[in-house]
Amino acid sequence: MKKLLSLLLAAALPALPALAQKFEGLALTPPMGFNTWNTFASNINEVLIMETAEAMVKNGMRDAGYTYIVLDDCWSLKERDADGNLVPDPAKFPSGLKALGEFLHARGFKFGIYGCAGAKTCGGYPGSMGHEYQDARTFASWGIDYLKYDWCSSGTRDAREAYTTMRDALFAAKRPVVFSICEWGNSKPWEWAKDVGHLWRTTGDITDCYDCVQRWERGWKVILDLQHSQVQPADGQGNGIGQYAGPGHWNDPDMLEVGNEGLTVAESRAHFSMWCLLAAPLMAGNDVRKATPEILAILTDKEAIAIDQDPAGKQGWRYRAEPGREIWVRELAGGEWAVALLNTGDTAAELSVDFGHMWFLGGTCAVRDIWEKKDAGTTVKPFTKRLESHDVALLRLKPIK
Ligand code: GLA
Repeated sequence: MKKLLSLLLAAALPALPALAQKFEGLALTPPMGFNTWNTFASNINEVLIMETAEAMVKNGMRDAGYTYIVLDDCWSLKERDADGNLVPDPAKFPSGLKALGEFLHARGFKFGIYGCAGAKTCGGYPGSMGHEYQDARTFASWGIDYLKYDWCSSGTRDAREAYTTMRDALFAAKRPVVFSICEWGNSKPWEWAKDVGHLWRTTGDITDCYDCVQRWERGWKVILDLQHSQVQPADGQGNGIGQYAGPGHWNDPDMLEVGNEGLTVAESRAHFSMWCLLAAPLMAGNDVRKATPEILAILTDKEAIAIDQDPAGKQGWRYRAEPGREIWVRELAGGEWAVALLNTGDTAAELSVDFGHMWFLGGTCAVRDIWEKKDAGTTVKPFTKRLESHDVALLRLKPIK
């Protein structure tokens, strides 16, 4: 009787609207694109974005997968308008952001923007606190496809609440948006953000050096180390922060400094390789209009990108760290593995990997040296290579049937 009653009631009730959720299926592999911050900071405008897009079409970056073009901080006026709307700075974006979005969409890109969960952005522009639904509707009206959402001036706000509110606002605005959480790992978002955002920053900001430490910014090697040991203590068997990453929800060790002046070409190559091992979002942060052929060859390398974008979506981990040498590994789909051998020393050195100790490999594998574009024997013998200081050998191991 009770069952019959509930069936009758269910049939009589109107369908409930879908509960708020994040947009699923948008980031089944780590997002790739370009972001203005690392090179241009507040010096942004529509000409820069249009030239960047044109350059990425010509230089092969778009076709290599760099789809999202993201305007970072400092795009708006310092005050909202009389109705409380965000207003793009007309001196920087005289055609408006809807027109800029149309320009990008017509060239096969997606359009990303920056906002902040606090009262003000880190650059002092209006944040979205208390304006989430209004701003989400504004973003939808401009054709925004990606939102990087920062954490400055957030006071005592609870991060999970703040990011969930914006997620719900984006969902209510009905335009699918990749939601990039940027609260620097403070509240361990990897533990709560899987259903809130598509990626979350794990640390403070990156800068273009190998291992410098400034007050807030650090070199890529310092950020890499943090992924292993401090962000989430790892046990040497892959059970660190990487266990929280997977299709649709990624750890974000910050945007790329590849090609920026504080790095040698070897350091750029190693930075890129390690980000591919981490299943990191690949957001170029250099002036792509001026990128050299060497840097473009790194950024568009199909085999390295295939590691980053591996469909199994398993993050890599540090397998060995010794003076002068680190080895990182990543399990790929189909029983394949990626291995990165990094020269952490200050001088060139001959380094080796002995695969015999890698208990996790299924059996003998063929070895491919990705940056040499050469097959390099099998895992029966150690792999040895002379590497410049801070350079890397990136290998792909494929089981021999
Ligand atoms: C914070 C973020 C950076 C960048 C700046 C912009 O520092 O972590 O990635 O967006 O704000 O002001």
